[in-house]
Amino acid sequence: MADFSFLDLEDSVAPKEKVAARTKVINAIRTLDWDERVLCVRVNAWDTRWTYGDVIEVVGGAGERLDEVMLPKVRRASDVVALDLLLSQVEANAGLPIGHIGIEAQIETAEGLINVEEICAASPRLESIVFGPADFAASIGMPVTTIDETIHDAPSNPFSYVFAKILMAGRANGLHVIDGPFLKVRDLDALRRAASISASYGFDGKWALTPDQAIVLNDVYSPSQELFDKSYDILDAYRVATEENLTGAVMFGDEMIDEASAKIANSFVSRGVRAGMKRSS
Ligand code: GLV
Ligand code: MG
Repeated sequence: MADFSFLDLEDSVAPKEKVAARTKVINAIRTLDWDERVLCVRVNAWDTRWTYGDVIEVVGGAGERLDEVMLPKVRRASDVVALDLLLSQVEANAGLPIGHIGIEAQIETAEGLINVEEICAASPRLESIVFGPADFAASIGMPVTTIDETIHDAPSNPFSYVFAKILMAGRANGLHVIDGPFLKVRDLDALRRAASISASYGFDGKWALTPDQAIVLNDVYSPSQELFDKSYDILDAYRVATEENLTGAVMFGDEMIDEASAKIANSFVSRGVRAGMKRSS
């Protein structure tokens, strides 16, 4: 199951349907059961004529249940600031608390990547920074027609610089860092390989385009049971070391562990607990 869903007004909607799609999105937010999940709408980018209308209509019409707005093709910090200011006015008119709506910013152009550090610091509304591989490939002139294993299985992953830069900027500002879509939707093995790369950098998750993709991705981005149990064991050993034996570094099997190891272990435990995992007895 997904813990976050977004409804799209951007690239999956035909230009002639852009305005009509707003009403469909508002109705879907209001009438469907979205359980506890974080709910987001992706509006059109500032280089179109639809952004302000998307925000005013959707947040004005369904802002109470909406958690976030996703802004695609963010190129500089002022793109985020402009959305932040507009949201404040829409919230005020809709009787919503100011700051109710968070922002997800998509990095999918060379310019956005160059400016990602200032983008990630542009607004307290920012929740996540999201990599958009398809538009990014188009932006930098990558010779591909889809986003599949041919990119991710290349001898040196051409996105490695991109992943590292986005991850640092996101983490420096306390944001979730998310990988974008994998377009060969039927090839779940290739999806698993591709997702494992951004997961190995420390990304928090990746978009799922189908329920089958969501199953694979939940598996890839959650710690394995073995890792989850080991992390708990490290925390136990570290507590005994620091509180009972009064030592900061201690051997755990063949590994030395210290405060940094405990921080790493803690992040796996938190992720596992959020995913509903239980420690093996
Ligand atoms: C997503 O929006 C992408 O362009 O990959
Ligand atoms: Mg895109």
